Amino acid sequence: MRDHEVLVTDVLVIGAGLAGERAAIEAALAGLNVTILSLVPPRRSHSSAAQGGMQASLGNTAMGKGDSPDIHFVDTVKGSDWGCDQDVARLFVETAPVAVREMAHWGVPWTRVTLEKRVYDGKVIEEDPAKVGLIAARNFGGTAKWRTCYTADGTGHTLLYTMDSVVLKLGVTVHDRVEAIRLIHDGEQCFGAVVRCLRTGALRAYVARTTVIASGGYGRLYGASTNAVINEGSGMALALDTGVVPLGNMEAVQFHPTGIVPSWILITEGARGDGGYLLDKNLHRFMPDYEPVKKELASRDVVSRRIMQHIRAGYGVDSPYGPHVWLDIRHLGERHIRTNLREIAAICQNFNGIDPVHDLIPVRPTQHYSMGGVRTNIHGQAYGMYNLFALGEAACWDLHGFNRLGGNSLAETVVAGKIVGAAIARQTKETSPDVRWPLVYEHLAEESARIERLRARAVRPGGENVYALRHEMEQILSENVGIFRTEGPLVEACDKLRELHRRAQDIRLRGEGRGADPELGAALRLPGMIRLALCIAKGALERKESRGSHYREDYPKRDDVNWLKRTLAYWPAGADEPELRYEPVKITELPPGDRGYGESSSFAATAGRQDAGANPS
Ligand code: FUM
Repeated sequence: MRDHEVLVTDVLVIGAGLAGERAAIEAALAGLNVTILSLVPPRRSHSSAAQGGMQASLGNTAMGKGDSPDIHFVDTVKGSDWGCDQDVARLFVETAPVAVREMAHWGVPWTRVTLEKRVYDGKVIEEDPAKVGLIAARNFGGTAKWRTCYTADGTGHTLLYTMDSVVLKLGVTVHDRVEAIRLIHDGEQCFGAVVRCLRTGALRAYVARTTVIASGGYGRLYGASTNAVINEGSGMALALDTGVVPLGNMEAVQFHPTGIVPSWILITEGARGDGGYLLDKNLHRFMPDYEPVKKELASRDVVSRRIMQHIRAGYGVDSPYGPHVWLDIRHLGERHIRTNLREIAAICQNFNGIDPVHDLIPVRPTQHYSMGGVRTNIHGQAYGMYNLFALGEAACWDLHGFNRLGGNSLAETVVAGKIVGAAIARQTKETSPDVRWPLVYEHLAEESARIERLRARAVRPGGENVYALRHEMEQILSENVGIFRTEGPLVEACDKLRELHRRAQDIRLRGEGRGADPELGAALRLPGMIRLALCIAKGALERKESRGSHYREDYPKRDDVNWLKRTLAYWPAGADEPELRYEPVKITELPPGDRGYGESSSFAATAGRQDAGANPS
């Protein structure tokens, strides 16, 4: 096995999105040798798809006046439905203003406060002339103040390009078009990863003192998702497959209210934050009927459920892709749309041939974010394995509990990147694990044998088609483990996924899987993806309450007596389903209470008041 390339680095970061790059910068600034691995060139990472902005309590605008980390903390905890780690939330809200200004210093062209006249919800907003030129903020869901700092609706784009420029300036090594397929570990310590080159198919080992998982979420397990096609949960699967590192709260899956039909690309919450409405088939603005206070800007889980409730009640617009509702931003005016919402205008034009200045946008709730991930402590250290860290969407840090607020994800990438990056640097400098070299070569040999077994099956009759299995997995999750959940369909999902996992041991490639063959890559990943799907489905089945995005129609209330706890999913070697354990959620500041979105009425059966044919107010 010694003919495979072996590379050595101090810190190995798996994933070149915002979280991975920000942590890498911190480690590089501490003088460490850092290598980042990426499936794609870093500037194409999924972070670039983030649109609306990042939350930080700067309080520069009239509608953000008086904001503070304390208010941001309360919004975040309520948003999480008391599922988050409050110590993490406190650290996060205190650091976010620093992180946003740091990004300005590095070059992010934040949209600034101006004196331009603005009417919002019928009111004229007058900015303080003394604040002109400071970083502005827009309104987002579930927040008491306007706090989401933005660059038009391309915030992920500008942040990522800026971050990547700093990575380049510091000379951090980046290897792109490579995929980590297994962690090298002895059950206690991690020594790096076995990596497959996506251009040549060659295997390499990257041996590291510290390994960091920052590979993003698993949206593509659901098929229909706002996530990029690379978001397949690969980093989470690497951790789960160690058998000793748990995944936290995998049943907490976020659906964004406005994925555009039928490509499911994100249409930013900023569109509603800036004053957009949701309309039904009668062009009636229905959200105020359900959520009179926050209307379209209740937290995401609530708005997504309200839309689906309204569609179920028969008020959706029929389409070949299923019923949807409309997003209406026409009244915001051409100038606003072409400046602050220009990316979504381009998406509407390019994917649907419509212009939101004049046309309604067809939208439906779409899988968007995974609150669950590799469970870590407040320093980003993975549970169960020394010198393994995780951060960003790949991790369950756990800032978001059962529902993440819009704008807290971009913010988490840069805040956690800064904090966890510093912890990575400290630990890497303090310790130097003895690399177990035989283990490195064993892991390489085992992965090489796994690939050869798959190739050998290419010429054998029978066997399973990897894409067909994957499609079945997507269907099971979408239909049985979606926005509304009940026992029967969840039991069925677990049964079917277990069966799919068994069938995935018998994949037959259609080609010989040489070199860059994407079918081979898909076959290597699929069993791990199905294991993640089982963690989601089983976690949802066992959690007999409703909390944030996890809504059980048969247990519609939050149950703080029995379920103020976090799910930890382990996958013991040779098991056919995850083993679930639980840990308490620590309440350090804000005791459980009402979320204040007026969602006391049931989601289940009835629609809200319906003024047929009414115009949007
Ligand atoms: O709607 C959005 O712009 C998405 C933001 C987020 O998920 O934080």
